[in-house]
Amino acid sequence: MITFDQLIPKLQEIFSNHNEFLQLTAPIYINRDLNGRVRLIVSTKWQSDQRVLEKLAIISQQMLETLGKRAFPIEQAVLFEQSVESVAFGAPVFPLEGVPGVSIIDRLATQGNWSTIAPASAEIPRVVFFSIKGGVGRSTAIAASAWSLAQSGKRVLVLDLDLESPGLSTSLLPIDRRPKYGITDWLVEDLLDNGDEVFESMVASSGLSHDGDIFVVPAHGADSGEYVAKLGRAWMPKVNSSGQESWSQRLQRLISLLEKRWSPDVILIDSRAGIDEVASACVTDLGANLVLLFALDGDQTWSGYRILFRHWRTTGVVREIRERLQVVGALIPELDGIEYTVGLREEAWSLFADELYDEVPAGSAATEETWSFDSSDEGGPHYAWAIRWNRGFNSLRAMHSRLNGIDADEVSAIFGQVIQGISNAIQGEDGS
Ligand SMILES: Nc1ncnc2c1ncn2[C@@H]1O[C@H](COP(=O)(O)OP(=O)(O)O)[C@@H](O)[C@H]1O
Ligand SMILES: [Mg+2]
Repeated sequence: MITFDQLIPKLQEIFSNHNEFLQLTAPIYINRDLNGRVRLIVSTKWQSDQRVLEKLAIISQQMLETLGKRAFPIEQAVLFEQSVESVAFGAPVFPLEGVPGVSIIDRLATQGNWSTIAPASAEIPRVVFFSIKGGVGRSTAIAASAWSLAQSGKRVLVLDLDLESPGLSTSLLPIDRRPKYGITDWLVEDLLDNGDEVFESMVASSGLSHDGDIFVVPAHGADSGEYVAKLGRAWMPKVNSSGQESWSQRLQRLISLLEKRWSPDVILIDSRAGIDEVASACVTDLGANLVLLFALDGDQTWSGYRILFRHWRTTGVVREIRERLQVVGALIPELDGIEYTVGLREEAWSLFADELYDEVPAGSAATEETWSFDSSDEGGPHYAWAIRWNRGFNSLRAMHSRLNGIDADEVSAIFGQVIQGISNAIQGEDGS
């Protein structure tokens, strides 16, 4: 029997022999179910058309022969649906490349699918800090960026969505300033329409800055309470009279409420790491304007990002997300830092060139529509913004007091490129 990864190429092979028929009966959907088995979904209007039925029987037979257990028995191979467009129920749908009129509905056991990309926020810029692995200095970079932006007069709202390994708030808030509640509390209370009860007490001002302000929404409050029991319920969809709201939609609603209440100039979001459901929501569902991809130069980083980029290509959403991405070189070593950074940017460039940049045909110049960057182009998203490893930042414990006593030049020397990049994003939104 064929394996999961052979499914799409085999389907393309089978279907490309029936192009004319498929154009006539389009749209046709291939339902790839939770077990990785496929069958067809076709409009009921063809159910009484003998010629269509015969053709469908031939295709079903070919699917069974080629796909084995990944296909259904002939008599179950086709589902007729009144409204084929509505059968996806929120599952990702993407075109079967090379076969016009045919799309795949992909049923996943997880809610995060990485491929439904929300439009970028049109008002307050949202910046997501993401990485394939943990421990690369994301939370530290958020704290330092928030501090620096606030020093320059901005109102910064910081959200800790790394609920499973919270920590950001520790670095921005001393114990006596922690709010009573956190994001986890709101997500749980909201299930019973009780979010208002905690809303005002889930945000604390960090007190670190003189001019602007840093509003921190931690994962949990000063007293974490029954955190494990709450966490086990936080990522629940909410069922109400008007249907079902996924947890990622609930999170979007929360962010809109926070925006209204605190009117920040920018929102910084600490995502989960890895190819994870919650990370998927942070990167693709929350309307991020800028997604920072933290990277250590190594195979683990690049192969992780390659998996994601390929997924965006397969599901046909690359163009919706690629222009919001930016690589960040994390923890750049003190020793031979320049060579390290050059090497990291080269690796990032070959990944972006392979997976995300448009190809510029040899001999012709890039046009307005071509989205591609030379390896040495500082404006390309592969051209990593560097964060230097620094002894003083090697302990998160001291972070709050450290930021309290730090001078702007030192922060700028370590995190300057990221801070500048976020400032540009804020200015871009202002149009100033
Ligand atoms: N620029 C830096 N220089 C030196 N150490 C750092 C730097 N940034 C973070 N660290 C240290 O690396 C560890 C992981 O940082 P953290 O920000 O918690 O990473 P993440 O959020 O990616 O898991 C912490 O011990 C932190 O003090
Ligand atoms: Mg972290």
